[in-house]
Amino acid sequence: MGRVKSLCFLAVVLAVLGQSFCSDEDPQCSRDVPVKSRIDCHPQPGASQEKCEARGCIWCSTNMPNAPWCFFPEDSPYGYSLNGNAEKTAKGWRLTLNKLQALSLFGNDISPVVIDVEFQTRDRLRFKIYDPNRQRFEVPLKVESPSVAADDTSYDIEVADDTSHFRIKRKSTGTVLWDASLSDLIFSNQYLQITTTVPSTSVYGFGEHEHLSFKHSMNFATYGMFSRDQSPTPFANLYGVHPFYMCVETDSNAHGVLLLNSNAQDVSLSPNPSLTFRTIGGVLDFYVFLGPTPENVVQQYTEAIGRPHMPAYWSLGFQLSRWGYGSIDVLKKTVDRMHYYDIPYDVQHSDIDYMERRLDFTYDKVNYAGLPEYMQQLKKEGMHYVLILDPFISKDEEPGTYRPYDLGEEMGVWVNNSDGVTPAVGKAWPDGHSVFPDYTNPRTVDWWTQMCLELKDVLDYDGIWIDMNEPSNFDRGQYPGCAVNDVNNPPYIPSISDRALAQKTLCPDSKTYLGEHYNTHSLFGWSQTAPTFHATQKATGKRAFVLSRSTFVGSGKHGGHWLGDNFSQWKDMHLSIIGILEFNLFGIPYIGADICGFNYNTTYELCLRWMQLGSFYPFSRNHNAEKNSEQDPAAFGAEFAKISRETLRIRYSLLPYLYTLFFESHVHGNTVARSLMHE
Ligand code: NOJ
Repeated sequence: MGRVKSLCFLAVVLAVLGQSFCSDEDPQCSRDVPVKSRIDCHPQPGASQEKCEARGCIWCSTNMPNAPWCFFPEDSPYGYSLNGNAEKTAKGWRLTLNKLQALSLFGNDISPVVIDVEFQTRDRLRFKIYDPNRQRFEVPLKVESPSVAADDTSYDIEVADDTSHFRIKRKSTGTVLWDASLSDLIFSNQYLQITTTVPSTSVYGFGEHEHLSFKHSMNFATYGMFSRDQSPTPFANLYGVHPFYMCVETDSNAHGVLLLNSNAQDVSLSPNPSLTFRTIGGVLDFYVFLGPTPENVVQQYTEAIGRPHMPAYWSLGFQLSRWGYGSIDVLKKTVDRMHYYDIPYDVQHSDIDYMERRLDFTYDKVNYAGLPEYMQQLKKEGMHYVLILDPFISKDEEPGTYRPYDLGEEMGVWVNNSDGVTPAVGKAWPDGHSVFPDYTNPRTVDWWTQMCLELKDVLDYDGIWIDMNEPSNFDRGQYPGCAVNDVNNPPYIPSISDRALAQKTLCPDSKTYLGEHYNTHSLFGWSQTAPTFHATQKATGKRAFVLSRSTFVGSGKHGGHWLGDNFSQWKDMHLSIIGILEFNLFGIPYIGADICGFNYNTTYELCLRWMQLGSFYPFSRNHNAEKNSEQDPAAFGAEFAKISRETLRIRYSLLPYLYTLFFESHVHGNTVARSLMHE
């Protein structure tokens, strides 16, 4: 990787200190593009000088860590320019762009493209870049907006004819919040890219990832977004997708930006400072929120995508869970010792081991004999109960013996193969093979509601925990594997784990009611959350509790989230705070992490400190993986129990305050847990 000179040491030191870089470029290379402004022209692995130059891009080594060696020249041969003047529309402006040259990076470039700018509210601007001649996939999230442009706005747009830059400015300060050169835009069938500068390096958000800091490093960090069953690992794409960031400007004003797009995508944060968005489908549908305070940004964001739901008061109490109590006796013993030590505790969860052979809508009548009665008893004692459900239904039970499958089959509720007719068959928890409910289909919503109502007659739950809904499948694609075609093998795969769209899930060319899984994959958990919320509400007649592993923009309206399968390690405890702050930015304030850690055995000291921290998570639950040693706060003896009791009592003394915070969040969109920066 090029020559290493002594100067590089200084570059690395400065990089670590967050200072501007010196660079060690090959002096023969073009100096027109400073290293910090480089936009990667070979974002997929395997760049070489030959491949780079064949693309009309510049190849130039540098010792700046992660900076691309292959980058677009100042005048990219792939971009667009304005065709004629901007047209005024009822909602704002329309710009038509033509591609400058016939060159294509990933094939099938589209020209013309249109930018529709909508002045939606005083503090919210939308601009959508799309193909005016062919309908492409758009996320079906309804954002209410008036039919005419807001007249008194806190922003202005500017389209500089000479330079073809599209800019958004904050009127009060003149700060340029968004500045995209149209010559950097790429809009092809399976590759869309846009770069903007940002007015400061204080950028927060984007998810779901395990971020090592709340404020991002802008030193060429790239984050993939594509929902995935993946334990928190730095830089990996995790369970949910939130292409939303907040930027705090140098004068402390803040703004937020959403890219409403559900396709596999990534974003690169560069020291310019700038952001490059790459997505492999849909349209470039941006919403800008002007704040000007960080709280205002989240209020405006949730006004657009849906305010967080109002959680039931009981669900602010401490919750206990584990995968693998294994029997009702162990469950009872655990509950009893919690009560023995008088540890504040309101909710008990049951993970998949309550089911008969991991079949949804059943319970294990041998190991969990008496579960219905036990749940009733706990409820009489004032506790509440949450049951897990997975989004896969075994197709291999004897016909006529497993109603969830038989009814679903009759109603035609599954995700289908590419033929749109035969159900996609994958492998998940149940023995044999499973099919996957397609929650984007209204028939599936009816079926799921019916099943949840019937379950309630047997197991008197108060809430539902929906897991594995990325959707997770234990193979790469469904049986018998994914066909070779452009949908399953797009020319660019964003920076996601394994660089494979079908890994641990279904083939992209599978069909859902809303369209190809290629477009709808990351909407799976989101599409399951609202129906589960309504079904639970119907079943209980009370405020719904839904905890979802996979989330998307707007999920907070119907559910909460936990940060997934973390590890019993100190670093996971630390990083949980960042995750919780981020989900508050994403409009999902009912958020927590598995207290004491999920994977690995915990230790006394770690678990105790985690109980102390987790007592102040908005969603406070101790959860553990199968086969790990017990880690409920009553498992470690009297001293541990006493400290847990004390710290949880502080939580409970603050519950009216916490409840009020959730009310403010539900009504006005405020965060519940926020960083001091918001204050
Ligand atoms: C994965 C979930 O993330 C975890 O919390 C759960 O315990 C297991 N699935 C088993 O259901």
